[in-house]
Amino acid sequence: MPPFLAEFLQTLAGSAPAAFFRNSTFAYASLNACHIFSIGLVVGSIATLDLRLLGLFYRFPVSALAPPLTRVAAAGLYFVIVTGFLLFCVRPLAYAVNAAFLAKITLVTLGVINALALRSSRGWALALEDELVPDSVRAAALRSLLIWAGAVFAGRWIGFLQ
Ligand code: HEM
Repeated sequence: MPPFLAEFLQTLAGSAPAAFFRNSTFAYASLNACHIFSIGLVVGSIATLDLRLLGLFYRFPVSALAPPLTRVAAAGLYFVIVTGFLLFCVRPLAYAVNAAFLAKITLVTLGVINALALRSSRGWALALEDELVPDSVRAAALRSLLIWAGAVFAGRWIGFLQ
């Protein structure tokens, strides 16, 4: 690990929030529970929209489902990043070399890129306007389901690789 990164992570580990969550089982467990709740908001809303794009719930228009589900996913992502970063600060040097943690952060980044690329695509506009879901959008929805499921598995695996 580059010395500047080790130094930065050491500073994070020495921070007041890190010490607070490290020294209070109740606070750490509550933070972890908030992380899991936020994950539920992100994965629950994204998976529902992906399944609609893949053909399930076809009686419900994409144009009606997408706005609220996207907003819940965005709010969930905000809270999952805040709670995740605070969890990370408790033992940053250990997590930075944890293969499951690194895999999860990579998958979360891919999940966000996939979602942003989908939303800026012509196919997405078609799905919203005409309720016709092109194959490119279905492929993005399938990728999304696999990526976020992978992020959950990798996240749970962190604790087993320590
Ligand atoms: C949507 C994105 C994310 C998903 C799906 C996710 C998923 C998970 C899961 C399933 C766990 C295990 C919870 C448990 O059973 O106790 C976990 C723990 C954790 N996550 Fe996340 N996470 C996400 C984002 C983040 C981010 C952005 C960070 C850091 C910046 C992060 C840091 C952590 C840490 C440090 C733990 C504790 C690991 C342990 O010691 O067991 N997570 N995450």
